[in-house]
Amino acid sequence: MEMERILVLGAGGQIGTELCGYLSDIYGSENVVATDLRPVKSHVGPSEILDASDFDALENIVNTYQITTVYHLVAMLSATAEKHPVKGWDLNMDTLFHVLNLAKDKKIQKVFWPSSIAVFGPTTPKHNTPQRTIMEPTTVYGISKSAGELWCQYYHQKYGVDVRSIRYPGLISWKGEPGGGTTDYAVEIFYSAVKGEKYTSFLDEKTYLPMMYMNDAIRATVNLMRAEKEKIHIRTSYNLAGISFSPKELHAAIKTTLPEFEVDYAPDFRQDIANSWPASIDDSSAQNDWDWKPKYDLKTMCAEMIEGVKKKLNS
Ligand code: SER
Repeated sequence: MEMERILVLGAGGQIGTELCGYLSDIYGSENVVATDLRPVKSHVGPSEILDASDFDALENIVNTYQITTVYHLVAMLSATAEKHPVKGWDLNMDTLFHVLNLAKDKKIQKVFWPSSIAVFGPTTPKHNTPQRTIMEPTTVYGISKSAGELWCQYYHQKYGVDVRSIRYPGLISWKGEPGGGTTDYAVEIFYSAVKGEKYTSFLDEKTYLPMMYMNDAIRATVNLMRAEKEKIHIRTSYNLAGISFSPKELHAAIKTTLPEFEVDYAPDFRQDIANSWPASIDDSSAQNDWDWKPKYDLKTMCAEMIEGVKKKLNS
């Protein structure tokens, strides 16, 4: 087993819920410390209540557990941050600086920090969005991720901080629930489908967005973190592509298993956010640098989601 002592911030969230288990299988659950504002019941290893915007409390946990690596998953997502712009900016940036500064002071050796397709904006090429392109985000969340990427690169270049990042597409999962994102419809829809209820989508039927099944996202994250340093050529954040689809296509895919399922459409403020984001992503840099390849397509993702949501609702 590899020797790393890992701290996961925001471990009770959509990504953290699954990442802690995956990391535990590799490093041993006793070497994975799960923290969040509330107790993280899903983790079998050590768990602490932590507000990551409190630097002293964070440093204390890093010292106590002799942490080597931090996965920083704390963020206010796109839709919520539009409602609380200053709070969103402060949370997203303060917590990033806390972790980067711990790494700069050599208290920790390695950092993972997620970026997002939200770094792109309406002036970005919409299809097969390149790794390097026009980036003029129009959401608070997107601005915080875009600035954060540049700070990561800065800390790497100036202070030698080993920080690695992925621009996640919309993430689809059944174990953990998403909170406050524009891509959340692609998770909510499965709960309605499995319960036999009609789903009202807050994005219109033709809105294509880049998406990814959580298993792929977790595998990508840990592969990036385990890749040799020499292979990491991008220190802002890597584009990552999984599946691109619209609500209409997702509805049709679910209907192959649940033929009675109905969807109607009532776009709200999140439609403007979605319209400003890419429809599909070019991730050839991730493919070339650290051998990334997704495993799930729309069909296999839907099959696992329907089974997973059924299991969850029955338990
Ligand atoms: N899924 C996120 C959101 O919708 C994007 O990173 O905010």
